[in-house]
Order: sequence, then C-alpha cells, then structure tokens
Amino acid sequence: MEKYRINGGSRLHGEVEISGAKNAAVAIIPAALLVDGVCRIENLPQISDTVTLLYILESLGATVRMINPSTVEIDCSHATWNGADYDRMRGIRASYYFVGSMLGRFGIARTTMPGGCNFGVRPIDQHVKGMNAMGADVQVTDFIDAEVPGRRLRGASIYLDKVSVGATMNIIIAAVLAEGRTVIENAAREPHIVDLANFLNSMGADVRGAGTDTVKINGVDRLHGGTYAIIPDQIEAGTYMAATAACGGEVLIRNVIPKHLDCITAKLREMGVTVEEYPESVLVRRDGRLRRANIKTQPYPGFPTDMQPQIGACLALAQGTSVITEGVWDNRYKYVNELRKMGAQIQVDGRVAVVEGVETLNGASVAACDLRAGAAMVIAGLAAQGITTVEDIHFIERGYQEFVGKLQLLGGDIHIIDVPEEPRRWAANAG
Ligand code: UD1
Repeated sequence: MEKYRINGGSRLHGEVEISGAKNAAVAIIPAALLVDGVCRIENLPQISDTVTLLYILESLGATVRMINPSTVEIDCSHATWNGADYDRMRGIRASYYFVGSMLGRFGIARTTMPGGCNFGVRPIDQHVKGMNAMGADVQVTDFIDAEVPGRRLRGASIYLDKVSVGATMNIIIAAVLAEGRTVIENAAREPHIVDLANFLNSMGADVRGAGTDTVKINGVDRLHGGTYAIIPDQIEAGTYMAATAACGGEVLIRNVIPKHLDCITAKLREMGVTVEEYPESVLVRRDGRLRRANIKTQPYPGFPTDMQPQIGACLALAQGTSVITEGVWDNRYKYVNELRKMGAQIQVDGRVAVVEGVETLNGASVAACDLRAGAAMVIAGLAAQGITTVEDIHFIERGYQEFVGKLQLLGGDIHIIDVPEEPRRWAANAG
C-alpha cells in the first residue's frame, strides 16, 4: 500500500510544466471509436484514467500504439461495441462517453454504469434524454444498453435541463455521425468541450458553437484519421497555483492557457497572491499571509468545482472567515473532516462551508477521499508544520501526472512510501 509522506513547511520555487487536460482526454479517447483510420493524439496526460480508457478501447478490438509517453496512435477500424472490459469501465466516470461513441459508430452500445469520484448522486438522465431524442432506446440497469432501430442516430434539438459537461460531450460525440443536424441548448461551456469539438472537427466532423451555450452538430458520413494535440489541464494548473498560494514562494507554471485560469487567477489575487500572465504561462508569487475570500463554484466560466477542495485548503490558512458555496455537487466536502485533523476550523452545512482561517496547520495522517480532495490534502500537507501522510493516493494518480516528481522539483518535501499491509491477525477465521 503506497502513501505520500510530506514534511511540510517549505516554500515552493521553480517551474512546473502542465500536462494535457484530463477531462478532454477522457472524452477524446472514447470518441476515437468514431474515427475511420488512425488517429494520433498528442499531449495525452499520463494518468491512470487515460490508461484505463486505452485498455477499454483495446478490449473493444482497437489497436493502440504508444509512440512516446504522451503520444498515442489509435486505430479503431476493427473495433466492435460488445465485450468491453466491463470491470475497467465500472471503475471510471468517463466510460459513459462510450455510449455516445458506440451509438454513433454502431447504432448499438453496451457499457457499465459509470464509476469515478463520489460527490453524492451523479445522475445520467440528461445523457439518456439526449440519446432518446436522437432515436435510441436506452435501458439502464447495472449496464447501459442502448440501440437505435435502423442503426443510425438522427439529429435532434435537445435542451439540457441541467448544465452538464458529461451530457454535452456525450451528445456531441453521438451526433457527429448522426443523420442531420443536432442542436444542444443550455450546453456546458468548459474548455474541454471546445477541445473535444476541435478534435472531432480535425477528423472531419462539423461541430459549431462549442464554448457557447448552443452547440450545433451537422452529421457527417465518416471521420478520417489525423493528428490532434490536447489542451493543457486547467485544473492541474490551478492546483499548482493553489499549492504556491498555500506554501508561499514563486512558481512559473508553464504550458497553460491563461484565459482558462481567469476565474482562479481572480480569486487568488483577491486573496493577496500575485499572478502575472504570459502568453503560455503564469507566474504565481505569495509573500504575506493569505486573505479571506468567498467562493461559489459554478459551471464555466464560473469558479470550477474541481478547484474547490484545493482552494479550501488555502482558505483554511487565510486571515479571516471565508464562505464556500458548492454550486455543482451535493456532497463535495468530505475532505473537510481530513483537513480538521490538521487543525483547520471549518463548519459545513449542506452546500455551504464556513472557514475560519488558522495561522498554521499541523501534519497528520489523512486520506484522499477523491481525486481533488486528495490534491487538497497534499497542498495542506506541504503548507503544514510537521509530517503528513496521505493514504488512498490511487485517487490522486487518476488525474495528476507525476504529482510527486513535479512537486519535488519545486522544493516540496514529498515522497511515496511503501507501507506493508497490516497482517490479517484479526481475520474472522484466525485462531
Ligand atoms: C465532469 C467532470 C467532473 C466535474 C464536473 C463539473 C469529467 C470526467 N468529470 O463531471 O470532474 O466536477 O464535470 O465540472 O469530466 N447532472 C444531472 N443529470 C445528468 C448529468 C449531470 O442532473 O444527466 C447534474 C449533476 O448531478 C451535477 C451537475 O449536473 O449536479 C453537473 O454534472 P456534470 O457537468 O454532468 O458532471 P460530469 O460530467 O459527471
């Protein structure tokens, strides 16, 4: 069992290179199923979620060739919709994108219900509504089984009742090879949605308006192979910004699109952090104590929910009382219990957390409750006095490429330690 061991209290200094965007990659890999030919994807983040999705593609009959650690060539010419590695599918949220890509390519789909981080109820009704509107019958049990009579989806007008990243992306994927035009209204506008559309368009699709709340997809007969480079990860960049804010120091965060970081930059500036923007990097500097701020998470271009725990760790150390309002998920404060073990003063009531900033956090044994909660624990551990150990780091490795290595380069005293499993002395049948 591996853990992180962090000796906190060092300021961060140096440069860090941001990897490709997780939430773009996890849609683009399933969408590769639509491509008739070899598609080459560059700037692929080396994280366990992308590895899992590539295994799933292989289990469907695709040929997957790693050219180098961040470039993959995928050929789905001989792929099918049936017999996927359902165990792997069950472990990952983004497996729902295979519903869109299988329906688009084959007119029939079978996936498991998606797994991934648990932030409370994570319904998929808007995905189903979209597929239904395009002519698919969808049955949801432990599996998602979907089929289109005639085996080709038809374009449709779909109004999303909820602004959903996943439903917007899934419907775009499904609609690319459908007959006629699909219009998605009240669509999500995240940078990874634009990236998915750009990927599909570079392979011959006709997707317009991604990044606005109305996306129009004119169905085409086939997608051809090509090469595409994934955008930098907004949340990974934001996490290093938050780490610098919490620990103090000066870090140049490279390979970013500063515009995608606007909402994070604005909040950090409000908290007394200096952020200088350059064409493809941001320089983050923090000297004095952090100041309080209120945060409300919202769909893009609002403050991202996926940055809420990391900024929560910063606010735990800020001067004054901050209020966090979680506007996307019902249950995204599980990390607060862990932060309290380090001395944080945070009260949670439903979707609101009130944070009384303390001057120092103290090292403790904590767990990563999910991917971003885990990142928040690492940030808190780096900023705290003394030793912190973080368990369940497999959550963190789902979404951060070389997290430990990158933080070490910035001067963070963080290591992976291998802890032997407890002997099973107390097992039911012992003695
Ligand atoms: C994606 C991200 C996740 C991020 C979230 C919001 C991936 C793999 N995950 O998740 O990290 O926190 O966007 O930015 O990209 N909803 C419904 N019905 C649906 C779908 C969603 O009611 O059919 C609700 C959800 O319960 C939630 C809200 O809509 O309250 C937003 O969810 P959504 O944007 O779909 O999140 P995901 O795509 O699952």
